Amino acid sequence: MIIVVGNEKGGVAKTATATNLAVRAVEAGIDTLLIDTDSQGTSRAWCRIRNETNQLPFVPLKTEIDNFKKELLHESTKYELLIVDIGAQNYKALTESALQADLVIVPTGADQFEVESTIKVMRALKKLDEEHQDGRCPAWVLMNRTPNVRNSREEAALRACLIDAGMPVFDTVLRDRSVWRTSRREGRAVHEVLGRTQMLDPKAGAEAESLFDEVMEKLATVQQQREQRQRKARSGK
Ligand SMILES: Nc1ncnc2c1ncn2[C@@H]1O[C@H](COP(=O)(O)OP(=O)(O)OP(=O)(O)O)[C@@H](O)[C@H]1O
Ligand SMILES: [Mg+2]
Repeated sequence: MIIVVGNEKGGVAKTATATNLAVRAVEAGIDTLLIDTDSQGTSRAWCRIRNETNQLPFVPLKTEIDNFKKELLHESTKYELLIVDIGAQNYKALTESALQADLVIVPTGADQFEVESTIKVMRALKKLDEEHQDGRCPAWVLMNRTPNVRNSREEAALRACLIDAGMPVFDTVLRDRSVWRTSRREGRAVHEVLGRTQMLDPKAGAEAESLFDEVMEKLATVQQQREQRQRKARSGK
């Protein structure tokens, strides 16, 4: 399966999302490859810190992809799950990877320009529907860095705005919590950042876990629907 994390806008938490999901997937026993397609190399830097500090589990990483279709297909014969971190404004990488994807995650915060960029990207991805093997490019918006309180007005307004624009949106929200910045400095996932005795920020850990669960559910649904279509095609109905 292939998960692509992308948005035109910079700093919307693409790398944070990709690296966290990669850790959880490896922990869950899924043979996973994290792919950094961004020339800034932030996922690569995160992996370097992780390896230098001997943080386990090890997260396999690939960088520098030229031919997205060929290389993603090739890697997906070797790994159960690919997680592709796309650089901001790299439309070529985003569209070519999205065509191979089982799930595209488009992170956004509530900032007006992030939202505009997200709607633009989601519309561009929608245009790939016909070319995608499932007849639909499976793209979902992920809200993040919203105020660190339950049910804030800003979060509700962001969801309403995205839904009004016809965007599918993850139920999970990753609120603005400083542990995300710490985790990045330490080459860790948020749930791996420890206080004195336990997880430093269990609420951030719970949100990240909820995202992982939702991602796994969506991948399972994609797989089931594909199998149903294949069964129908075989029986000629
Ligand atoms: N939920 C969150 N709460 C607080 N800070 C966050 C959250 N998610 C990400 N961040 C922080 O936001 C910043 C941008 O995150 P990140 O590098 O993942 O974005 P990006 O979209 O990959 O950026 P770029 O376009 O440069 O690749 C980082 O400092 C990261 O630690
Ligand atoms: Mg990044």
